[in-house]
Amino acid sequence: MSTSPKIKFAIIGTGSITKLHIQSIEEIENAEVVALCSSSKERALETEKIYPYPCYYDITTLFDSETIDAISICTYSGNHLESCVEAAKRGIHVITEKPLEVSLERADAMIEACSKNNVLLGCIFQSRFKPDYIRLKEAIDQGLLGDILHGNAYINWYRNEDYYQSSSWRGTLKGDGGAALINQGIHTIDLLLDVMGEVENVYGQVKTVYHDIEGEDLGMAILNFKNGRTATIQGSTAMYPGYPERLEVYGTDGSIILEGGQIVSFHSKKQETTSNKSNHTGSGASDPMSISYLYHKIQLEDFVDSIINHHEPLISGVDGRAPLAVIQAIYQSSKEQKLLTL
Ligand SMILES: NC(=O)c1ccc[n+]([C@@H]2O[C@H](COP(=O)([O-])OP(=O)(O)OC[C@H]3O[C@@H](n4cnc5c(N)ncnc54)[C@H](O)[C@@H]3O)[C@@H](O)[C@H]2O)c1
Repeated sequence: MSTSPKIKFAIIGTGSITKLHIQSIEEIENAEVVALCSSSKERALETEKIYPYPCYYDITTLFDSETIDAISICTYSGNHLESCVEAAKRGIHVITEKPLEVSLERADAMIEACSKNNVLLGCIFQSRFKPDYIRLKEAIDQGLLGDILHGNAYINWYRNEDYYQSSSWRGTLKGDGGAALINQGIHTIDLLLDVMGEVENVYGQVKTVYHDIEGEDLGMAILNFKNGRTATIQGSTAMYPGYPERLEVYGTDGSIILEGGQIVSFHSKKQETTSNKSNHTGSGASDPMSISYLYHKIQLEDFVDSIINHHEPLISGVDGRAPLAVIQAIYQSSKEQKLLTL
C-alpha cells in the first residue's frame, strides 16, 4: 500500500471522453479526482448528479477553490489551450486529450506555457499502450523486419450525420481543426510516425465527399521521411459501415499488419511467423465510444509517475505536436496542391 500523498486531478470538460478519465484516475493508486469543470451552470448541476465530485463551470473559481496538482483536459479540441495556460500559470501539470490543439500556433502556445512555468505537458494517445503495438515496436527494435522501407495507415471509419450534429464543434475548423484526419485518423497517424521517424515532406489531398461539414471526411497523403522511408495515409469518416484501422509496416526482412489494434499478420524471414484473425476489440471504427478505458489508464498512470518522479511523460506535448504538424501539412499541401516540406 502506498502512503505517499495522491496526485489531485481536476477534469476539465464533461463530455463523452470524460468518463474514461474519471474511471482511469479513480483506479490509479497514487491519484484521485477532486473536482470537475463544465462549460455551463446547467451542465455542472447535471454532472454533479452523475459523479461524486464538485463540478465548477468556471476554471478560475475551480483553481481558487480547490488544491489541484494536475488537470486532464477533455473539452473540445479547439478549447485545450485556454485551460492549459491557466493551469500552467498556477504551477499545475497538464495532460490533454488528442489532438494537442487545432493549430500549430495554439499547440506551441501550450508547450511554451508549460515549459515556462516548469509544469509537465502530456497528450493522450492511448493506442501506443496497446500490447500488440508494443509487440510491433519490439519486433522492429529486435531487427525482425530488417530495415524499415514503407508504412501505410488506413483509417476507413464511418460516422453518421447524428455524430456531427451531437456537438456543435464536431467537423468545424474552429472546434475540431478539420475532421477525419485530425480527429479520428490522428491515432493511427501517430503510430505511423512513431514507427517511421521524422517526416521530410508531404503531398496531401483532402475532400469533403459525404457529410455536410466544414472539415474533410476523406484525406489521402504520401509521406517521405528524412531517413529515406516512405508511407501513405488514407483516412475517412465516410466509409460505411466503418472498418478497423490498419497500420502496415514493411521491411527488408518482413512485415507486420496491425488491425483494430491487434497484429493480424506478422512475417519475418528471421523467425517463425503468424497470421491471426483479429476480433477487433476496442476500435472506434463505427462507434466513437466503443473504446476501453484501460489504455487511458496506463497512459495516465505514466503521467502520475512522471509528476511524482520528475521525468517527462512517455507522450509529452512535443510528441503530441508531431502528428498535428503532419496533418496540418497535409491540409496545407491539399490547399496549395503541391508537395510541402516540413
Ligand atoms: N482519445 C480518444 O480516443 C478520444 C475519443 C473521443 C474524444 N477525444 C477527444 O476528447 C475531446 C472531447 O471530445 P468529446 O467527444 O468528449 O466531446 P463532447 O462534445 O462530448 O464534449 C465536449 C466538452 O467540451 C465542453 N465545452 C463545450 N464548450 C465549451 C466552452 N466554451 N468552454 C469550455 N468547455 C466547453 C463541453 O462541456 C464538453 O464537456 C476532444 O478533443 C476529442 O478529440 C479523444
